[in-house]
Amino acid sequence: MYKVADCSLSTCPNGGFMKVGFGCDHAAIDLKNELIKYMTEKGYECVDYGTNYDENGEIIKCDYPDKGHEVGRAVANGDVDYAVLMCGTGIGISMAANKIKGVRAAVCSEPYSAMMTKKHNDSNIIAFGARVVGDELAKMILDAFFDAEFEGGRHKRRVDLIED
Ligand code: RB5
Repeated sequence: MYKVADCSLSTCPNGGFMKVGFGCDHAAIDLKNELIKYMTEKGYECVDYGTNYDENGEIIKCDYPDKGHEVGRAVANGDVDYAVLMCGTGIGISMAANKIKGVRAAVCSEPYSAMMTKKHNDSNIIAFGARVVGDELAKMILDAFFDAEFEGGRHKRRVDLIED
């Protein structure tokens, strides 16, 4: 794990400091790296949990359940505020993350669901598949998710029911 960039308070969207973790399995390294670049340029502090290529350019293989658990714990512990998880489909890695108490990971292949899962479900992890969405759609999904805010109110009671 290493820190990619420091967030400048003045440029961070939503008016504040936000630390975002990124994790993927071997199916999504290139997408993950492209999105770290994109979000870093937007002012987010991005933390890369891998996986990555080794110094010989070989993929460091990992099992998506391990990565989902690792990044899920980072969110639950408060090491990062939110996380972005990717595997081939986004499904397996989000299933694993959702086993960690306090994690609400949503697989979204389009921006509407990404926006709504923040507004209504207070999701703290957004997931998608590198074999499902392209780079530009993935950026739109991230914009929709991170620009949205949890609405609270009646949704808070329902989210509490999930946690209970
Ligand atoms: C790995 O080939 C693939 O199974 C994984 O990335 C993911 O799609 C699982 O849900």
